[in-house]
Amino acid sequence: MSDLLSLDGRIALVTGAGQGIGAQISRHFAEHGARAVIVNDYFLDRAQAVADEITAAGGSAFAVQGDVTDHAGMKALAESVREAHGPIDILVNNAGNSGANPAADVSAPFWETGPETWDSQIGVNFYGVLNSTAAVVPAMIEHGYGRIVTIISEASRYGDPGLEVYAGAKAGAAGFTRATARALGRHGVTANCVAIAATLTPAIEDRLAQNPERLKKMMSKYVIRRPGRPSDVANAVLFLASDAAEYITGQTYPVNGGFTFNL
Ligand SMILES: NC(=O)c1ccc[n+]([C@@H]2O[C@H](COP(=O)([O-])OP(=O)(O)OC[C@H]3O[C@@H](n4cnc5c(N)ncnc54)[C@H](O)[C@@H]3O)[C@@H](O)[C@H]2O)c1
Repeated sequence: MSDLLSLDGRIALVTGAGQGIGAQISRHFAEHGARAVIVNDYFLDRAQAVADEITAAGGSAFAVQGDVTDHAGMKALAESVREAHGPIDILVNNAGNSGANPAADVSAPFWETGPETWDSQIGVNFYGVLNSTAAVVPAMIEHGYGRIVTIISEASRYGDPGLEVYAGAKAGAAGFTRATARALGRHGVTANCVAIAATLTPAIEDRLAQNPERLKKMMSKYVIRRPGRPSDVANAVLFLASDAAEYITGQTYPVNGGFTFNL
């Protein structure tokens, strides 16, 4: 029986994969036979550690430094991957940052901040998706195949006080994904989002560990009463990146323990 989740022969780029969810997606992809997983991060040492771990476990992974907010840099990155390994078949837009203050329960509302804060939020969470997608799409069209999966946040659908700009940027990425899906479907390229809720990664672990009352209150809103694990997200991303999801595009998949439901 053929394994529809196999990524045999595929080249995948995962952005912001030096830790947390992106690192787990990279591990999943390698375990499912990707020919090469390109582990990108702003911090090369993080990406290298993940790539080394995957290689030691028998997978094929390569670390690449890159800042998703750098349009020309992401184009150059995609070109260098293409020269070394071949065209990128799968892009996971994972790099992101809520900008939440780890020491505070609730971050400052947007009207108390300004463009100097907003620009960096919109930069990584929205422009980062545009830059990375623009860098890989021409080769996907040329080859008539592509899978694009973008990690967004339930904040984009449900809101979150203090995360207004982040929520707007992530919602923008979802709108961009739908339009991209419509433009690229006839070229064999699908584009989907995975919308996640609280997931235990370095981005939030410390904050929640220091505040068990807050965690308890949060979990009372989740049908499955635990925070997400990176592997919960990686399972859904693997599915959407695989041939099993050939007929799914333009969608937002919630991986959120039942925090919200799709209608
Ligand atoms: N963890 C959560 O609870 C949660 C909830 C909702 C959405 N998300 C989203 O999931 C994704 C992954 O989150 P995480 O919790 O694993 O984050 P994380 O902070 O643990 O890891 C993110 C990685 O991205 C890298 N990165 C940041 N900016 C970058 C840039 N400009 N270019 C390249 N790399 C960059 C960081 O160096 C870091 O290694 C993000 O898009 C985030 O917004 C996370």
